[in-house]
Amino acid sequence: MELNFHRHRRLRSTENMRALVRENHLRVEDFIYPLFIIEGENIVNEVKSMPGVFQISLDKLEAEMDEIVSLGIKSILLFGVPLEKDELGQGAYHNHGLVQEATRLVKGKYPEIIVVADTCLCEYTSHGHCGVIEGEKVLNDPSLQLLVQTAVSQAKAGADIIAPSNMMDGFVAAIRKGLDEEGFEDIPIMSYAVKYASSFYGPFRDAADSTPQFGDRKAYQMDPANRLEALREAESDVMEGADFLMVKPGLPYLDIVRDVKNHFNLPIVIYNVSGEYSMVKAAALNGWIDEQKVVMEMLTGMKRAGADLIITYFAKDVARWLKEY
Ligand code: PBG
Repeated sequence: MELNFHRHRRLRSTENMRALVRENHLRVEDFIYPLFIIEGENIVNEVKSMPGVFQISLDKLEAEMDEIVSLGIKSILLFGVPLEKDELGQGAYHNHGLVQEATRLVKGKYPEIIVVADTCLCEYTSHGHCGVIEGEKVLNDPSLQLLVQTAVSQAKAGADIIAPSNMMDGFVAAIRKGLDEEGFEDIPIMSYAVKYASSFYGPFRDAADSTPQFGDRKAYQMDPANRLEALREAESDVMEGADFLMVKPGLPYLDIVRDVKNHFNLPIVIYNVSGEYSMVKAAALNGWIDEQKVVMEMLTGMKRAGADLIITYFAKDVARWLKEY
């Protein structure tokens, strides 16, 4: 019997042969490392549900940045964890708020580091929602105004990228206009364009103390069952002037990442969220999986799906592993 088939294994025969034909690579430049800045002094709190992730106070930020920079990481994402909250989330747009002060500190010592500011209200509101509420409703347009104020105060503090995550309609248009009016036309917007109402954010809400005090976020974040809606969301943000498009979470939504990548020509960002981190960590701590190999495989999969950049709590680990390779 004569068989006619292709010998795919020819290109897998040795490590060097595999390296020759490898299609996707991880680079330390691909990663953005999230940091939680908590109000107070001398605080380095490990987040219970996220081993290896810490809330740190401003006075501990410099040492943290020294480590981040020494690992070769070029970009960070800042979240604030204030002690006092109010209905309108005033800490978010205070000129001396946590993210603003952290930004000044980082840019003062490491001007070349890219500071991405998360622009949202949920960590600062007493009710834990991402906007202004009336009864149990999160109001769209009044929230936009506060978001703009937040973005402008972050830009004034020196943030390099504004990353709005609250999922109000029109936030990119509003923030773009607000930034331009204040002379920040060169500051890009990294829109959390496609953000699902996901249970994978659970551990983050411990880290950022941002659990909604009533209801959930389903009236503003997206239904996990939807795909076309993701394209509509991304399309709006592109038209409104976004410079980056984010898909969040990552792992359960890689099909959406590929769709967004195929439809739009902006850099695509994945947020490899807290729940994705905690699942891997928990299994690794139990000795059930090889953490390094699983993380590298997972992140490579994200790049293959179409991500240009990845926001991940694993960034420091990956930077270390990439150095060892
Ligand atoms: C704020 C925000 C959230 C995350 C990033 N920005 C939480 C949420 O929307 O509830 C989640 C990130 C993560 O889970 O790692 N709106």
